[in-house]
Amino acid sequence: MTSVLKGLGVAVPSRVVTNDDLAATLDTSDEWVRTRTGIAERRIAEPGVATADLAVEAGAEALKRAEVDVGAVVVATCTADRTIPGIGPEVASRLGLGTIPALDVNAACAGFVYALSVASGLIASGVADGVLVAGAETMSRVTDFSDRSTAVLFGDGAGAVVLARGEPGEPGEVGPYDLGSDGEGADLLEVPGGGSRRPLDAAALAEGAQYLKMDGREVYRQAVRRMVASSEAVLAKAGLAAADVDRLVGHQANARILEAVADRLGIGEERRFLNVARYGNTSAASIPLALADADLVAGERVLLTAFGAGMSWGSTLLRWPDLPVT
Ligand code: COA
Repeated sequence: MTSVLKGLGVAVPSRVVTNDDLAATLDTSDEWVRTRTGIAERRIAEPGVATADLAVEAGAEALKRAEVDVGAVVVATCTADRTIPGIGPEVASRLGLGTIPALDVNAACAGFVYALSVASGLIASGVADGVLVAGAETMSRVTDFSDRSTAVLFGDGAGAVVLARGEPGEPGEVGPYDLGSDGEGADLLEVPGGGSRRPLDAAALAEGAQYLKMDGREVYRQAVRRMVASSEAVLAKAGLAAADVDRLVGHQANARILEAVADRLGIGEERRFLNVARYGNTSAASIPLALADADLVAGERVLLTAFGAGMSWGSTLLRWPDLPVT
């Protein structure tokens, strides 16, 4: 028994914000952002559009394509609509899935890989034969657009897949998984306010504690190191080498990070995929958004790897099925 990918859907806000748009109000430039990050533009949700709205749109598309009986929903997000409750139950209800088990997974930018593993576990434990897994974020809601060190990096969007019970070797097979975390780096990338340690009182709001703060250099260093080690670990678990990987679809945080990861793994340019230029870092949504854009061919072995706040990281392997994508 294993879990197999059956359907994929994506949703991005229609509003495009270019580097030049940001440079109109921020001391930055298109040239700086492109050179340091590979990002050219990102999508930003209109006021009133929340993370669950994007997850529902992507999820509906994935469900339509999968034609699988879905018995659970897992949403990877670190920008849920509210602190309480998570958006999994709302996404399930709005998709007409009834009163099935539904929950959020918050592993920030590594959330989608973590959520896939949770879904595989729900299938293996007999809770559900099919699981909708969404990665959805409105990073713009935790972004301080007057802080040039973070404002240029993030974007909004969602992607969703359906995992279903399957047989080993079946097209779409997902796994094994390598997951890890290091809480000693929790302060390196955080939204300090709004939780139980720093409720959003007037002083916290005045300091901007509701916005994302990041030690970019250290996060960069750890991201490369952890994604390389995790990719190697998952390949070893599967008894494979980097040479057996047809495509590397990593978390799209920064083109330079992914280039460094691919270089260290010995995965050449023709086997890498990047779409960070179009969307920026959409956190848990970035891997499904990349899967939708990567022009994958049925049968290709795809290595997924991600790293984010926590610090958290994870990798898995996927045999690309014959799947219609937009
Ligand atoms: N435009 C122009 N200048 C900027 C800028 C911007 N948007 N952001 C920062 N700078 C400036 C800094 O103020 C600094 O100026 P100084 O030397 O006068 O102090 C200079 O550029 C260099 O800053 P630094 O932070 O050292 O740049 P960097 O080469 O490390 O690149 C990041 C910054 C954020 C692009 C890079 O650290 C990074 O990508 N980190 C990982 C971020 C990430 O992906 N996080 C999510 C992981 S899931």
